[in-house]
Amino acid sequence: MKRSIFVLVWILLLLGSCTDKEPGDNDEDLTQVPYNPESYELILPVQFPAMQIPEDNPMTVDGVALGRRLFYDTILSSDGSMSCSSCHLPNGNFTDNQKFSTGVTGELSSRSSMTLLNVGFANTGLFWDGRVSTLEEQALLPVEDPIELHESWPNVEVKLRDDENYPTLFRKAFGIETKMEISKELTVKAIAQFERSLISSGNSKYDRVIAGLDVFSDQELRGHDIFFDIDPDQSKHAECGHCHNAPLFTTNEYLNNGLDSVDDLLSFKDQGRGKVTGVLFDNGAFKVPTLRNIINSAPYMHDGRFNTLDEVIDHYETGGHIADNIGAVMRPLILSESDRQALIAFIATLQDDDFLNNPEFSNPF
Ligand code: HEC
Ligand code: HEC
Repeated sequence: MKRSIFVLVWILLLLGSCTDKEPGDNDEDLTQVPYNPESYELILPVQFPAMQIPEDNPMTVDGVALGRRLFYDTILSSDGSMSCSSCHLPNGNFTDNQKFSTGVTGELSSRSSMTLLNVGFANTGLFWDGRVSTLEEQALLPVEDPIELHESWPNVEVKLRDDENYPTLFRKAFGIETKMEISKELTVKAIAQFERSLISSGNSKYDRVIAGLDVFSDQELRGHDIFFDIDPDQSKHAECGHCHNAPLFTTNEYLNNGLDSVDDLLSFKDQGRGKVTGVLFDNGAFKVPTLRNIINSAPYMHDGRFNTLDEVIDHYETGGHIADNIGAVMRPLILSESDRQALIAFIATLQDDDFLNNPEFSNPF
């Protein structure tokens, strides 16, 4: 009798383990893995503003490391073919250098990929139109976007719980006690922590000059004065610095820089910021992008319409297409060939190869 009860209990246990333990349901105890969060120290170039970091997602060394791995991991896509980094590559200044991006199904995005350099300072919203406000909120979207990673969050959670490394890494980053606590919320928190670490190195020529460690050549200095309207000859002001202001080389504003010729404010092909705010005056306005490492971010503008800086400057020289909401400082420029070369030489001082080649930002796989 005793023996048959034993067998019955044994069979029940076996059955129990078969029915309860679906893949991804393994509730294994993780508390033996040490959880010692060490805060991640941000090193900012001279003059940079403080970064606003959400109180519920402080940066830690293990959180940033987990986020980096997730950012480069194709586990986030439906067919294991793509990751965030497929459209945000380090040597493209965290863009994909395409006019439009191709997602897992081969479909094209409707706008050009954006740089993630200094994205932690983007405090007026994210995307070309600012439609989301935090990096955590943003990172939820590409996974389920049918023309990006085309995966579902419940599937991603199961894959991460079943992975041999992630449960330990989530434990170290967030102190979870079981695999079941791996969630989309923690996944995007880690990715956001990694993105906030993507900060200029401070070793661009521009930053070194500002820090008093280097000096501009005559040509770069002239380009600087043209860019920031400092040249005593007013006809040589290019107005760039009003919108692409130091130190981030963006004011994070949404503006119309006159790319499109329209009959009225309702006629923009892509309404940009206006679609988000519902304000007519915002139609055709897009986020001012940073000019740091701009050489690596081509092609340019929200729709990748220009391939070179020369084409961009050709656009600004015309003063852009007039519209009721065109940026107030937009006007035709009169730049000689040497003014143009000086302007380009100054923009080249924003080149930050240490950022692009930083081993802590590269693919960990
Ligand atoms: C298929 C290509 C593609 C993939 C994959 C992709 N992105 Fe993007 N990303 C884009 C495009 C295109 C935009 C601009 C879209 C817009 O403004 O409408 C963008 C914009 C962003 C922005 C806004 C930057 C800013 O300055 O406002 C962030 C942040 C970002 N992506 C992070 C991510 C993360 C994190 C992942 C992975 C979870 C990811 N992206 C996956 C193409 C992609
Ligand atoms: C009125 C504000 C304003 C002024 C002045 C201005 N820009 Fe811009 N710039 C913008 C906006 C807004 C965008 C994005 C527009 C879009 O994609 O629709 C942009 C985009 C760019 C881009 C493309 C960046 C990328 O990542 O695609 C470059 C390069 C650029 N500007 C350089 C300059 C230079 C050089 C000057 C001076 C000659 C200048 N800008 C003057 C507002 C301005």
